[in-house]
Amino acid sequence: MKPSPDTCASEFAHAMQQAFAQRPHHIAPKWFYDAEGSRLFDAICELPEYYPTRTELALLDRHGPEIARHIGPGAELVEFGAGSLRKVRLLLDALERPASLLPIDISAEHLWASAAELRRERPGLAVHPLAVDFTREFVLPPAHGPRVGFFPGSSIGNFEPGEAGALLARMVHWLDGGLLIGVDLVKDPDLLHAAYNDARGVTARFNLNLLARANAELGANFQLARWAHSAFYHPPLQRIEMHLISRCDQVVQLCGQSFPVAEGESLHTENSYKYTVAGFQRLAQRAGFHPEAVWVDARRWFALHWLRPAHSLR
Ligand code: TRP
Repeated sequence: MKPSPDTCASEFAHAMQQAFAQRPHHIAPKWFYDAEGSRLFDAICELPEYYPTRTELALLDRHGPEIARHIGPGAELVEFGAGSLRKVRLLLDALERPASLLPIDISAEHLWASAAELRRERPGLAVHPLAVDFTREFVLPPAHGPRVGFFPGSSIGNFEPGEAGALLARMVHWLDGGLLIGVDLVKDPDLLHAAYNDARGVTARFNLNLLARANAELGANFQLARWAHSAFYHPPLQRIEMHLISRCDQVVQLCGQSFPVAEGESLHTENSYKYTVAGFQRLAQRAGFHPEAVWVDARRWFALHWLRPAHSLR
């Protein structure tokens, strides 16, 4: 496909050009999530090595009644990075008369399809999907009931701690009811390594899909075989880093611009920060939340935090 001036003016085009114009090359992980990226992410969640999804679902299932008592009746749920809406179903089942659900996701088609399915399933529930990038400015419609955020999957770990704090500080103002947020815990690096280097190579395909997306949307010339998936744990920063490593010297073409890339050079595509319970609570407190409850599985792999805006308690 020849890139049209239109697609080359897109934010994705700009982000890819920026990524290759700076060294080290890096790009925000939100660009993974085109329709295929969302599908691949759902496949990651099914992998035997990828413990976060299963562990968080089990926490929601087990502690649903207690979580519902904290949230209270008639809440309006806002889910950030809603994806396939699998986890929020468990939460909705536990809640008393949820008023409505506002699922937010950057991946529009995927979001609309999952929202349509949920509406068919639960005709009594008002579902208002919002296909926006929640890291940017956007407008929430007027609330119908106490507004409660749901931010599962440890997506908060995909932000730099400073950015994560800034995002939480914005959420304090949107959510008068509170925030239920899933955060992956610091643990044995071998377990982390396996979770981000699955035997079937689904995570590798997810990573490489960024380049396939650039080919499809921007007419870029990436040959996927010339790039290698790399994910490893970096203990001092308590984060998984994910990279695409160039297997040879090559020239990347992006919307009329050429970027030489050397063999071994990397495009840093994602971080996944891990937190201790206390470490995350400190971050939340600095952002204006009061940590009210936390649920952790028996193996201490994953934490589900219930936070109240400190201003609502005064
Ligand atoms: N939120 C997920 C996580 O941090 C996203 C993710 C899935 C991911 N696979 C990944 C992040 C591989 C980095 C590397 O676990």
